[in-house]
Amino acid sequence: MRTIDWVDGAVEIIDQTALPGELRILRLHTVGELVAAIQSLAVRGAPALGVAGAFGVALAARVHGDDPAALALAVERVETARPTAVNLARGARRAARLLPAGPEAVLAEACAVRDEEIAASAAMAARGADLLAELCAGRPRLLTHCNTGGLAAVTLGTALGVVHELHRRGNLAGLIASETRPLLQGARLTSWELTQWGIEHRVAVDSAGPYLMARGEVDAVIVGADRICANGDVINKVGTYAHALGARRAGVPFVVVAPESTVDPDTPTGADVPIEDRGPAEVTPWAEAVNPAFDVTPYDLVTAIVTDRRVIRQASTA
Ligand code: MRU
Repeated sequence: MRTIDWVDGAVEIIDQTALPGELRILRLHTVGELVAAIQSLAVRGAPALGVAGAFGVALAARVHGDDPAALALAVERVETARPTAVNLARGARRAARLLPAGPEAVLAEACAVRDEEIAASAAMAARGADLLAELCAGRPRLLTHCNTGGLAAVTLGTALGVVHELHRRGNLAGLIASETRPLLQGARLTSWELTQWGIEHRVAVDSAGPYLMARGEVDAVIVGADRICANGDVINKVGTYAHALGARRAGVPFVVVAPESTVDPDTPTGADVPIEDRGPAEVTPWAEAVNPAFDVTPYDLVTAIVTDRRVIRQASTA
């Protein structure tokens, strides 16, 4: 099942706000509906956002094709719906380049973005599983953060695709899914996907990760990314940095799995990335709060980055 697709003239998504309680499909007919779905995290995860961005422009081309000002505004709304994952603006801009050729050409380009992400997931799963076998002798016990499965892509996913492949090969000894405060992408979404796949796992609170590593219960940490900067800094769900520090202290590999569409040579370092703050309501009703949705893991804490085309060790993306 695809997390996001174009079906009969509309964008169809799995509503990730309803999981794990309900598997609900949403049909999005307008740019407004799509932007709302992106901002509420009904569709989320960097590769899925890239596809959403491209399909959003396809919707805009259909609805506003004869009104250049409205079209430009709609494309900008899609591009800027969330700021951190580079895939969103990149997917939207890629589809927007086809606007002069008409709505069908835009849609064809958006479908190409979707198909490339499906192929990228398969390539990363194989390459990442090979790398883990090399880095961790035997069957590794892994820790992952946030949700990087098919829900974050179109099918299969990035880091969780590697987990799936290791399991398929009989080479996974255990998995801890970090719960991922405050929206629980790990406890709700990763756990749901792993259950669908029949992969045994345990959920841990985010702050337990570094201690579980120190206690010798984790052989490697494997995460996705929302943006990989030119110097190799990795932007990912808040909490990733703490896991990277824990991994370094415990002497276990810290592996990032992301498609080339997440590698951003135009952003020099993590300090140049706009980090979304999602406001206090998601954190606590009792006090003022600061709520950065992502953090920056400096390149020197990253053992390797696996993309659909290469393995980058010690993180120079130049
Ligand atoms: O706020 P989210 O849920 O969109 O954040 C998602 C993440 O941080 C993922 O780890 C990242 O997009 C990689 S998904 C393959």
